[in-house]
Order: sequence, then structure tokens, then C-alpha cells
Amino acid sequence: MDDASDGQMDGLCVTDCTRCPELVEARSRIVNGAGPDDAELVFLGEAPGANEDEKGEPFVGRSGSVLDDALRDVGLARSDVRITNCVRCRPPENRDPKVAELENCAGWLERELELVDPELLVTLGKVPSEHVLDRSVAVTSEAGDVVDARIGGRAQRVLVCVHPAATLYDRSQEETFTDTIARAADLANLTDGEGGQANLGDF
Ligand code: URA
Repeated sequence: MDDASDGQMDGLCVTDCTRCPELVEARSRIVNGAGPDDAELVFLGEAPGANEDEKGEPFVGRSGSVLDDALRDVGLARSDVRITNCVRCRPPENRDPKVAELENCAGWLERELELVDPELLVTLGKVPSEHVLDRSVAVTSEAGDVVDARIGGRAQRVLVCVHPAATLYDRSQEETFTDTIARAADLANLTDGEGGQANLGDF
């Protein structure tokens, strides 16, 4: 899969990849995952949008603010977690990534997860959930479910979550989203066990 002739990875970063002609044409840059290289909690989105393509970091637009707020509510900062995407280049007109594009990028994600080795992977929305679990997922009803999956031959505990953008067009999703983020912090052992602030020793 990681054929060096059409893409390379340096540590956790894909430094060059030409596997998806339409994405290579549309992107300004490759948007790699961001956050600690030993994070216990990794969030997985779909693909970069315009803001991410411009800034070179996942979830830096409105969806990112929703995620940041929910993390803050459980005492976490963005710098405590890793955030990455199924596909690392912006699809034109923000269309969904094609199956071939998801497959082309899968090896990079598998390698990232193998190196980071997180306790928990949180799939944000339908595309990442179905990509990782390899089945159809009704995200709204399955949000908060924990699944023991295999990703690239490696065992990975996965928590299904609605996409943060869903809370922007459907307020009824807010509680589902924030509850799932609280569950994620708990499952990754990043809270004090009472839903309170993490890292209390820092105060
Ligand atoms: N930004 C990302 O980086 N990924 C998404 O899925 C949505 C917004």
C-alpha cells in the first residue's frame, strides 16, 4: 500500500502523495493529523475543508470550534488529543471523499494509528465511522457506542460520535455530541472519573 513512488510518510506526516489525481489538483497542501504523537485519544474526521486546506491543520473551522468547546467542557484542550482525517487532501467543492480516495489514504491512517497507539479512536460522523467499522452506521442512533475494531490488523477500540457540524444545523444533536465527548475522555482515562477537570495536578 505504501508504495514510495506515489507517496511517502515521514514520522506521522505524509510528505508527498499523488495517489488521488482530483485531490492533488484541488488541494493547497496535505493536511496531516495534529496533536501529541502519543495521544490516548484520537479524533477522526472525514476530510479537510477550505479552512483546513488553508491552514494545514484538521478541524480549524466552525466544526473545530464545536469540538474545542466540548473538549473544554470536560477539562481538555485540543493539545491533549490528536485530530486527524480519513482523507488528508481537500475534496473539490467539499464533496464526500470517494471510496477509492478513502482506500488510497487508508494506509497513512493505519500507520498513524499504529505509531500513536491510542486507547480510543473517536469517529466523527458517518464517513469515518463506516470507513473504520467497514459497515453501514446509523450515527445518530449508534453515537456513544463502543466497538472493538481491527484497523490495519491492529486492535482498536472505537467510539462512534456524531460529526460536530451536525450540532450546527440540528440543535438536538448537541447533547448527544457533548455526552459522547465526555464518554471519550472517560474511556481514554483523561478525566478524574467524575466528569471533572483533567490534569488537576496542574492547578
Ligand atoms: N474539518 C476536518 O478537518 N474534517 C472534517 O471532517 C470536517 C472539518
